[in-house]
Amino acid sequence: MATRLLRWPLPALLSWAAAWGIFFAMRAADWAPFWALSGATLAGLVLAVFGSTPWRRVFIGAGFPLSALLLVFTLGSGSLSAWTWLVPLGLLVLLYPINSWRDAPLFPTPERALDGLASAAVLPDQARILDAGCGLGAGLRALRRQYPAARLSGLEWSWPLALACRWRCRFARVRRASMWSTSWAGQDMVYLFQRPESMSRAGEKAVAELADGAWLVSLEFEVPAFRPHARLESVPGKPVWVYRMPVRSAGSDR
Ligand SMILES: C[S@@+](CC[C@H](N)C(=O)[O-])C[C@H]1O[C@@H](n2cnc3c(N)ncnc32)[C@H](O)[C@@H]1O
Repeated sequence: MATRLLRWPLPALLSWAAAWGIFFAMRAADWAPFWALSGATLAGLVLAVFGSTPWRRVFIGAGFPLSALLLVFTLGSGSLSAWTWLVPLGLLVLLYPINSWRDAPLFPTPERALDGLASAAVLPDQARILDAGCGLGAGLRALRRQYPAARLSGLEWSWPLALACRWRCRFARVRRASMWSTSWAGQDMVYLFQRPESMSRAGEKAVAELADGAWLVSLEFEVPAFRPHARLESVPGKPVWVYRMPVRSAGSDR
């Protein structure tokens, strides 16, 4: 509840800082390292309960013990200087620039999650389909299984992920760019697997830029106030929300 008031990844960063604060406070009060580590890990696990999704709970809870392990490892190794732990942190930031944490970190579309989509949202050959935030390409591959003759493209904010996706999905045109600052005009379908907080913005962008008859498809998270054309669920817990432009609002009868 409390963490919902804070924009991700702030809850994780604050929880990790709190756990480290507890560790140093216990050490300053002469607790043995074992008990200080245990106390701080426990605090991190308690704070993890407030994470708004299962993965966020994992990030919050694992942050302190992992960073402590990394520190022990680097300080304990004579060949490595104390700041070496900044290298994995730097790699993490490169892999997940902070603004893509806000939209969604990397979770791939399950292989069969889009089964049935081609029947629910019929597209002609050569239709243009965009995976907005394509990660490592699992969504593009699932889309290709549904629409083998479509022209697929992907946008990905993280450089390393965009490069890896380009290599994995040579059938698609993958660019490193933000899905928000890139126009969706001309796409016959835009596919998203983001996070609940991004869906209103995605809905507004779809209404502003997609032509009548085009599709907006979202894995797991629905667009608030949009009436779906279809809802599929071939993987339990991973509904697929299918919207057709011009979209009707959830409250309307027509
Ligand atoms: C949950 S993953 C989904 C990956 C892929 N669409 C799939 O279904 O397998 C979300 C992806 O969106 C990317 N992302 C987040 N914000 C973005 C933005 N503003 N522009 C482009 N990509 C973004 C993240 O880096 C991440 O790879």
